[in-house]
Amino acid sequence: MKSLPWWKEAVIYQIYPRSFFDSNGDGEGDLPGITSKLEYVQQLGVDAIWLSPFYTSPNKDGGYDVADPRDVDPRFGNLADAQSLIDHAHELHMKVLADVVPNHFSDQHEWFQAALGAGPGSPERARFHFYDANPDGTPPNNWISLFGGPSWTQVADGQYYLHLFDSSQPDLNWDNDDVNKDFEETLRFWLDRGVDGFRIDVAHGLVKEDILKNHHDPQGLSNALRLDYPMDHETRNALLLSVPYFDRQGVHEIYRRWRKLFDSYGDREIMAVAEAWVHPPINATKYVRPDELHQVFNFDLLTAPFEAAHLYEVINRSIELNATVNALPTWALSNHDSPRVASRIGDEESRALALFVFALPGSSYIFAGQELGLPDGELSDSDRQDPSFIRSGGTVKGRDGARVPLPWSGDSTPFGFTSGKPWLPIAQSWQRFTVENQDKDPSSILNLFRQALTLRRQYLLASQKISWVQSPIHGNHDDSLLAFMRESVTVVMNLSSHSKEVDVPGEVLLSSFGDIQVHGSKKLLPARSCIWISN
Ligand code: NOJ
Repeated sequence: MKSLPWWKEAVIYQIYPRSFFDSNGDGEGDLPGITSKLEYVQQLGVDAIWLSPFYTSPNKDGGYDVADPRDVDPRFGNLADAQSLIDHAHELHMKVLADVVPNHFSDQHEWFQAALGAGPGSPERARFHFYDANPDGTPPNNWISLFGGPSWTQVADGQYYLHLFDSSQPDLNWDNDDVNKDFEETLRFWLDRGVDGFRIDVAHGLVKEDILKNHHDPQGLSNALRLDYPMDHETRNALLLSVPYFDRQGVHEIYRRWRKLFDSYGDREIMAVAEAWVHPPINATKYVRPDELHQVFNFDLLTAPFEAAHLYEVINRSIELNATVNALPTWALSNHDSPRVASRIGDEESRALALFVFALPGSSYIFAGQELGLPDGELSDSDRQDPSFIRSGGTVKGRDGARVPLPWSGDSTPFGFTSGKPWLPIAQSWQRFTVENQDKDPSSILNLFRQALTLRRQYLLASQKISWVQSPIHGNHDDSLLAFMRESVTVVMNLSSHSKEVDVPGEVLLSSFGDIQVHGSKKLLPARSCIWISN
């Protein structure tokens, strides 16, 4: 039997370089810092790392404002450091994914600076979306930036340029050949240095339509796109069905071209995963058609409540939709853009859900620090750096809470992360989360993740099928239990706040929380817990 490509069921560990480990005492993580901790990452049992951007950048949006995609920002090191990181990861048998940011550059990119100097109508401006002002001086349309405020900024000669994000992130014009060629060069640049694939930022945003038309409800649309904004389901759905700057047909042509480029690297099995927030959910599967990308993020679990019916629905839907294009789903409980799962649903709940998700078919993403059970950092407004905080005048708190650096060792903050002052403060109460402390504690979440990832390889990966188990509790339906079988393992999660006895023969392989009382085939699951049983 031919084995699956490495990425199909990979566990991928996302590293936010600025917050991982600081090797030079400047308070910010860097590439040599990551390299020095790769053994730790490998011991977790992951297959690959994904590095959020480390390219030359004024860092107005945590490095997603790229001024030179083919060089390393001095705050993170240099190209030789990137090479050492890639090589060392490979020595440890881990793949490396880089982040590629094709929707926009930084305004400090030489192309944008040249465009400013070259003036209206120039080929330099044609690489971006520059348009004249309306006769009354207003911007070409009424779109609102995803970080708040208008998505147009005016330059000295009166033209406006489009930026879906911060004004320092001008959107690129993907109808322009230079743009296409430049990104192909960037992809090859990193592939030739050994990276094994890419995470594609805003993959659904590259092509815009109706750029000179006003949207009928720009504020509604802007709210609908915010995960934390309460809105009734139907209104949100209606608004998200047609976003003039997201999920346009043209993006798929770009990924078909990229797929050919990836495939030209032959048996290196290069892969790419799309960050594509699209609607309705079936549209996400278009990005993973056989001649396009390999994976698309499934963001459902970043917002899902810890509630059995809801989880069943979104998990099942993702498996079924991906199957229509012969793809496997991806699972993520946290990332650098959303509240950490432990803060969002609770400590015990997040341990249980992680165990549940690690047993599912497809690829699991872990956001660095999730294996330590980190909550969001408590920050004061003066600490915050996220452009969404700044551009919304502080009404949106932004994503800094999820980006607080990792606590490694010792008794006092900053817990070995840096010998200097960390770029975001690490609370003294995080002592209990340090790697050093959790290493020693057999019941820590860190050791739970290590065991889960070992057992996942041992017991689960031979088949990509699961079957849901309807009634694991004494033959009665219980809507606070979720269970499925995969291979010879039954996975049961108790979502209620009471312990529950389930009747499933076999040996308990792993439990998310505490010891399990076993009486023959009966097992007592603690509240908010998940167990794996080998039949
Ligand atoms: C998605 C990235 O994950 C996020 O951090 C960034 O702000 C936007 N894209 C813009 O690049």
